[in-house]
Amino acid sequence: MAKPLKHIFICTQNRGPGHPQGSCNQNGCGEVLEEFMFEFQKRDLGEKFRLTMTGCIGPCGSGPSVLVYPEGVMYGKVTKDDVAAIVDEHLLGDVPVARLCVAPEIWG
Ligand code: FES
Repeated sequence: MAKPLKHIFICTQNRGPGHPQGSCNQNGCGEVLEEFMFEFQKRDLGEKFRLTMTGCIGPCGSGPSVLVYPEGVMYGKVTKDDVAAIVDEHLLGDVPVARLCVAPEIWG
């Protein structure tokens, strides 16, 4: 198994309806995950990049959250319509999608 050029973590945490903290699952991360999987399959990206579903990665209120390493870029409020831009511009183009990045203070 080759080391991936980038590793994409998609938060799929679910806290259930009514939980005060909310979760990416409640905010629609399922559609985002499906779209990443679709794009990876369509473009045969699985050899270069790795997708991983993860539990909470921090900024629940701005989910669905997607974190890309090695850059450590956190995307927030990602929708399925944003996925192609992340693939084209960040994964393949090496330029993070600024309009989708969370505010710097979220990293504390
Ligand atoms: S639930 Fe997704 S970042 Fe916390």
